[in-house]
Order: sequence, then C-alpha cells, then structure tokens
Amino acid sequence: MGKKGKEIVEGNVKKLIDELNRMVADEWIALFYYWIASQVVSGRSAIQVSGILKESVQEELEHATQLAERIVELGGKPVSTPREVLEKAHHKFPPLSKDVDGILRTALKVERGVIESYNKLVKETREKDPITHRLLVHILRDEVSEEQNIETMLGK
Ligand SMILES: [Fe+2]
Ligand SMILES: [Fe+2]
Repeated sequence: MGKKGKEIVEGNVKKLIDELNRMVADEWIALFYYWIASQVVSGRSAIQVSGILKESVQEELEHATQLAERIVELGGKPVSTPREVLEKAHHKFPPLSKDVDGILRTALKVERGVIESYNKLVKETREKDPITHRLLVHILRDEVSEEQNIETMLGK
C-alpha cells in the first residue's frame, strides 16, 4: 500500500494487524473444522450436510485470504504456522463429533463466536480505517448468513 493509503489508517496499526491476524486464526480453525467434519459426517442427511460444510470451507478460506491481503497491505505478516493459529485464535479447536446434529451445533458455536469478534472489530474500525471496516462488514454479513443457515438446518 502506498504512503497516503497508510497515512489514512488512524490509530494503532500494529494492534489492528494483530486483531486481523486473530480473525485469520479463527477462520483457519473454522475451515479446518468444517473440512474434517465434511469428511467424517455420518447419519441422516449426511451427504447434504457434507456438501454444505465443503462450501463453508471455501467461504472461510476466502475470508482468511481477504484478511491476509489486508494485513499485507497494512505492512504486516499473516499468521503462518499452525502453532501461531492456535495461539492467536479466540477459541480452541472444537471437539469433533460425527453425527449431523453434533457437527451443526458446534458449527453454530463457531459462527456465533466469529460474529461477536467481527462485530467488535467492525465497531473499532468504523472511524479509523474505512477500507478494513468495509471488508469486515462484508465478512460479518457472510457469517450472519451462515449462522442462519445452520439454525435452519438444526430446525431452530
Ligand atoms: Fe469466515
Ligand atoms: Fe463462517
């Protein structure tokens, strides 16, 4: 990012990069969970749920990529090792169940966790960094839709 582009970012950029990296870590946890869950899910409607989980893997990967691009633009380095991911994530890697309902309930927790974290960052960046703010709003929108889809599948 150019000089002026960097200048217009107000506040503590290092802290912002760290917070964005914590979200990258959360995305990796989510996508790894959805990936393994899509492989092992069994029982009623497992094929359908597996397909939806695979789509979520792609979506979370896209989020991680968009965040990483912004981190690089801001002059930072995205989390780059599994250890860093585990250290920075807001939540531990969730326990894996194999049945559809257990997987969906865990996915719901994961989504609600990231919604909370993104919402906090959306508020923090509102006046300080319009570009990061807009990206975060866009991702938050996706996460809110994901939560709703999971609730629908769970019949809530
Ligand atoms: Fe995501
Ligand atoms: Fe998500």
